[in-house]
Amino acid sequence: IDHVIIMAGGAGTRLWPASTNTRPKQFMKIGGNDSLITSAIKRGFALDHRGYVIIVTHRDHLKPALDECSALPEEMRKRIVILPEPFARNTAPALMLAAAWLKWKGEENSSVIVLAADHIINDTDGFIASVEKASQLAEKDRLVPFGIPPVSAETGYGYIEAGKTFLPGLEVVSFKEKPDLKTAVKFVAAGNFYWNSGMFVYPVSLFYDELRVHTPEVVEPFDSIDFRDGQFAAEKDLTYLKDIDAITPVYEKVLKISIDYALMEKSHKIAMAEAEFDWNDVGSWDVISEIDKSEKNTLTVKGRNNFVYGDDVQVAFCGVSDLIVVVEEGKILICRKGESQLVKEVTEKL
Ligand code: GDD
Ligand code: MG
Repeated sequence: IDHVIIMAGGAGTRLWPASTNTRPKQFMKIGGNDSLITSAIKRGFALDHRGYVIIVTHRDHLKPALDECSALPEEMRKRIVILPEPFARNTAPALMLAAAWLKWKGEENSSVIVLAADHIINDTDGFIASVEKASQLAEKDRLVPFGIPPVSAETGYGYIEAGKTFLPGLEVVSFKEKPDLKTAVKFVAAGNFYWNSGMFVYPVSLFYDELRVHTPEVVEPFDSIDFRDGQFAAEKDLTYLKDIDAITPVYEKVLKISIDYALMEKSHKIAMAEAEFDWNDVGSWDVISEIDKSEKNTLTVKGRNNFVYGDDVQVAFCGVSDLIVVVEEGKILICRKGESQLVKEVTEKL
């Protein structure tokens, strides 16, 4: 692969109060010293590719993104480009923006890997080896998601129906984004379905061609984009799109849709690489409390299995078990383990 694209524009509402509009979850540190976005950038550079690391994020998060990146070594900073979006239009327009920028740079014949800014992957060697396999599939003109063997009938993921062996991967028979529970149960029982990891490898030209065929409402607004050097600025060796208003007309027209619905469910040019590495989509406090078992900041007198998130806080638990407590700038979440999907409703109510 030649370039890395990092999607970092999500809101992360299920992780309130640590994740907020002004500082969403990709800027949180979970079970490590680096924020999730910094880990994703380092993961991209671990691939030892020749080109750019393009970060696509919401304009409100440009500042925290620049702050995170400015702590990276100079060799990395020089190759980072941040593209802030005027509004969140989901992942298909975000990836289209990165593709349009690459085209402007004369890189339409390159191949890319797309990473999410909110995943935890520890096995970097396994990750590199899997990307190598995915690249071989992409070279045969395929869009390549990474498949994860499913461990439950999770309805928050996309499902890849795998077919016959194809090079070091598998043919893809179908792709279904976020099925209902009944369908998810059926998929998991069938044995040849994988979770979509949300990371993809593809040739930029194939991405353009397939998206134009299947969801032209995403591609066409970008045909009028007119990037100029003067729209970009540099700060501490980092390049970013400063004149965000220049792309606002495009974003006013573009369809709001995820890449899973816009492209993966529709294209027949998909092949899957198996993810031969650990993978965690940090989607809820339940997941985070499973990742971080350190019992940091907790004092339990009677009870067990309590989890605390927050800097400079100490929480004492007396006679209670299985609680998640999150303390952040005057806001406190107290949640029973297993119920953290309800947090989304808190943010809706607020
Ligand atoms: N730039 C930008 N703009 N990034 C975005 C936007 C946007 O409008 N919306 C989401 N993102 C980023 C998020 O920050 C995250 O890193 C990534 O894109 C995926 O978005 P999510 O909103 O977290 O998607 P999801 O978890 O519901 O579903 C996707 O990931 C699953 C695995 O984690 C899908 O690809 C599923 O098929 C997949 O199983
Ligand atoms: Mg996600």
